[in-house]
Amino acid sequence: MNILLLGSGGREHALAWKLAQSAQCEKLFAAPGNPGIAQYAECLALDATDHQAVIAFCNDERIGLVVVGPEAPLVDGLADSLRGAGVPVFGPSKAAAQLEGSKSFTKEMCLRAGIPTAGYRRADSEAEAMAALDAFGLPVVVKADGLAAGKGVTVAMTREEAEEAVRDIFAGRFGSDGAQAVIEEFMEGEEASYFALTDGSTIVPFGTAQDHKRVGEGDTGPNTGGMGAYSPAPIMTPMLRAEVVSKIFAPTVKAMADAGMPYSGVLYAGLMLTREGPKLIEYNCRFGDPECQVLMMRLESDLAEFLLACAQNRLAALEPPRFSDDTAMTVVMAANGYPGTPEKGGAIHGIEQAEASGAQVFHAGTARGTDGTLVASGGRVLNVTAMAETVSEAQKKAYKAVDLIDFPSGFCRRDIGWREVERENAGG
Ligand code: AMP
Ligand code: GLY
Repeated sequence: MNILLLGSGGREHALAWKLAQSAQCEKLFAAPGNPGIAQYAECLALDATDHQAVIAFCNDERIGLVVVGPEAPLVDGLADSLRGAGVPVFGPSKAAAQLEGSKSFTKEMCLRAGIPTAGYRRADSEAEAMAALDAFGLPVVVKADGLAAGKGVTVAMTREEAEEAVRDIFAGRFGSDGAQAVIEEFMEGEEASYFALTDGSTIVPFGTAQDHKRVGEGDTGPNTGGMGAYSPAPIMTPMLRAEVVSKIFAPTVKAMADAGMPYSGVLYAGLMLTREGPKLIEYNCRFGDPECQVLMMRLESDLAEFLLACAQNRLAALEPPRFSDDTAMTVVMAANGYPGTPEKGGAIHGIEQAEASGAQVFHAGTARGTDGTLVASGGRVLNVTAMAETVSEAQKKAYKAVDLIDFPSGFCRRDIGWREVERENAGG
C-alpha cells in the first residue's frame, strides 16, 4: 500500500525510516517531511489543516494508511475527516485526542475511572486558581489547560512563583486555550514513559523510555521538548509495566469507549513512579519526540502492520511486537539559543561519517540551503541514535557519532542516560 506520513521532525524521520522497511509499504509520501525523510519518501507540501486537500491527495494517490506524527492535526480532528472519507488513519479522533489536548478532560476521566494521578482542582478564573492554591502545600504544579507546546507547566517551589504562573495563564500567555488552569498536587519520584497501541479495545504495550527534558547537564535549566532519551527504561520492571497496563491503560481505554469516544492510536503515558506506585502525569496522543526514535531503533516487527491494524480495529489478531533487548539511546543536537530563539541556517556536515560509525542520525530541524548544503532550521536539529547491549555502551556509541558531526552553531548535552549509567556502574 501507499502510506502518507504527516509531520517534519525527528519523530517522523524515525517513523519514515521504519515504515520504508515494511514489506507492506509500496510508496511512502511525507508532508511536509524533511531532508532526512526525503531519503525514503516523496516529500510534498500539503496543508494538514485543509482536510479536504488531504483527503483529495489520499484518493489521488490511493493512500492505504495515513500516519499522523504530531498532536496538532489530531486535536484539530483530521483523523475524523479521514475516517469519514474511508481512509485508514493511525491516530485518535478529535474527541479522543482531548486526552492530550485538555488536561482537565484527562483529570476528570482519571477521577471517574479511578486512575492513579495527582490530586487537582480546575480553575476557570484567576480568583478560582488563587483559591485553589490554598488547597495544596508546596511545591505545587500550575498548568494551562490546553496545548501549550509543553510550556504551560510550572512546578512552583514558592507561593510567589505559583501566583505568577496563575497570572500568566489568565493574562492569555498560552492563548485562549490557556484561559483555564489546572492546579495539581506535586508528585515525587522518577519519571518514565510507557507507550501502548490501542484500537479502542485491544491494548498492545509498545515500549518504555526515559527522556531528559531540561536543556542543561545534570537536568538543569529550562524545559525543552527533550534533549535525549533511551529505551528501554530498566526502572520500568515487568511488575511495574503490568501495573500500568491494568491500573492506567486498561481503565483509560474502557472509559474512553464507555464515553462514546473510543481511543485509537498510540497512548503515551508520562508516569511518575511514586512511593505509592506509578501515577499518571499526563497523556499524549502521539509518539514522544525523541522517545519515538529510540523505540523505532529497537522495534523488530513491521511497523506498518501494527499501525494499519490499529487503524482497522484488528490489533487482537496480531502477534505481540518484537523489540530488541538492547538499549537504544538518542542524543539531541540543538541549535544555539534553544529552547529560546534558535540560531537558524548553521551548516551541518559529517552525518555520513557518524552513520558509518554505527549510529542512525535522524533529522529533526534541518533544511537544504540554496546550494544544497544541509543547514539547521529548527531548535532541535539532529537526533544521533545508537544501540548497544548496555546503556553505557549505547551512550559511548552515540557520543562517538556526535563527535563526528560538524555543527559549529549547535550544542548537545553530554550526559544523556546518566542515571542509568550510574545504576549500571553501581550494579556491576
Ligand atoms: P506535563 O506537560 O504535564 O508532562 O508536565 C511537564 C513536566 O512537569 C513533567 O514532565 C513533570 O516533570 C512535571 N510535572 C507535571 N505535573 C507534575 C506533578 N503533578 N508533580 C510533579 N511534577 C509534575
Ligand atoms: N519528549 C516529550 C514529548 O514528546 O512530549
